[in-house]
Amino acid sequence: MTIKSILRKKRDGEELNNEEIGSFIKSLIIGEVSDAQLGAMMMAIYINGLTEAETTHFTKYMINSGSTLSWPDEWIGRVVDKHSTGGVGDKISFSLIAVLTACSDVKIPMISGRSLGITGGTLDKLESIPGFKVGLTPSEILEGLRKNGCVLCGQTDDIVPADRLMYACRDETETVTNRNLINASIISKKAAEGLNALVLDVKFGAASTLGDVLEARVAAEDMVRAAHNVGIKARAFLTEMNDPIGRMVGNGLEIRETVEFLRWEDAGERTPDLLELVLTLGSHMLQMTNQVSSFSEGEQIIRQSLASKKALKAFENMLAFQGVPAEVAADLCEGKYDAVLPKATTTVVHHNGDHGYVARIDAAVIGHLVLELGGGRLKKTDKIDHAVGFELLKVVGDQVTLGDPWIVIHHNEPLSGSFVSRVQASLTTTKAISVRRNRVLEVVS
Ligand code: URA
Repeated sequence: MTIKSILRKKRDGEELNNEEIGSFIKSLIIGEVSDAQLGAMMMAIYINGLTEAETTHFTKYMINSGSTLSWPDEWIGRVVDKHSTGGVGDKISFSLIAVLTACSDVKIPMISGRSLGITGGTLDKLESIPGFKVGLTPSEILEGLRKNGCVLCGQTDDIVPADRLMYACRDETETVTNRNLINASIISKKAAEGLNALVLDVKFGAASTLGDVLEARVAAEDMVRAAHNVGIKARAFLTEMNDPIGRMVGNGLEIRETVEFLRWEDAGERTPDLLELVLTLGSHMLQMTNQVSSFSEGEQIIRQSLASKKALKAFENMLAFQGVPAEVAADLCEGKYDAVLPKATTTVVHHNGDHGYVARIDAAVIGHLVLELGGGRLKKTDKIDHAVGFELLKVVGDQVTLGDPWIVIHHNEPLSGSFVSRVQASLTTTKAISVRRNRVLEVVS
């Protein structure tokens, strides 16, 4: 059996067996699969799909491509995580782990990823904070959990290295949106974390990786089943991803919005969807780890953790543990954004051309435009511009009059006319009153 023979089989639509998948992943890890061959495999899977058995084999070998984490006995039942299938403006993880570790005894060893297609990468966002280190060894992860209850780090040569390689390749080859690859990528990371419980944020809609709600529901059911098969209690939430989450899109800007949220100066009013997702996903994580007896109790202690600023402090502690100089972490959490976060050379405000109500801000368009500004990668060697992005001054449901400013573009390179017209076209207004809908549609368990 050679890599070429395995590729030929997948290219021709045949099912790969356990041995072939094991051999492919092992060869990948020892550097015997070229970039071209990995790209070809991802494309063949994208076109021909994976059967349930193939997905299970990929997941198993991806988990075992590196070390798996294990925890002290006294933590059993309390090791929990959340993972999203990827959205535009999705900054939920940062607030969620800060909030939960501040108000309970859960342990969150979150392993996340970089940008994937138009969805921003959790790790890229964190790297807009000077000094933040995303590569942790297993013993550093253990220490972080002992000290602060959480870490937020990436796949490494030690932990799920197969996912790190496949993930970067999928981003570069436009093969992100295959649901079996998404399933194997997410569940392999979560199993390697040695979790007891997992909440999945499965997005549906124009800017999601999974398409419409029917596709997302199938993917959610598959992922919950895959998590159960590796011994993790799991629940998935189908959440809408048509408009950007919150008001900021772009790496550094999303960190800024996270700190604004955790500072709780507006009690979550400016970003009700961010609050809704933190409350919903967080209260389920608390309930699944027996930290509370009801969701309403969960929501109550999450609100207290925000209002008391304990969550803000937990975020600051996590930053300091992961390499951010203590004074920089403190400045950021005091709201000194310009002193800490990268700033674009130019900001330009755009004005709305009509009276009415905001019905839609197309997150898929905004996600592509952030990529064009340099906030994402077209190929894996591209360097991210952490300063660029968009700030929404109006969101769905807001009333607008002619000439109202509605969006700020943060950029470092001149903008073309077509770029500006695509920004404008991402906004839809209607004469009829439009209302913001909840993000969470249903739970799959
Ligand atoms: N998050 C992941 O870790 N992998 C995917 O494929 C999609 C979202």
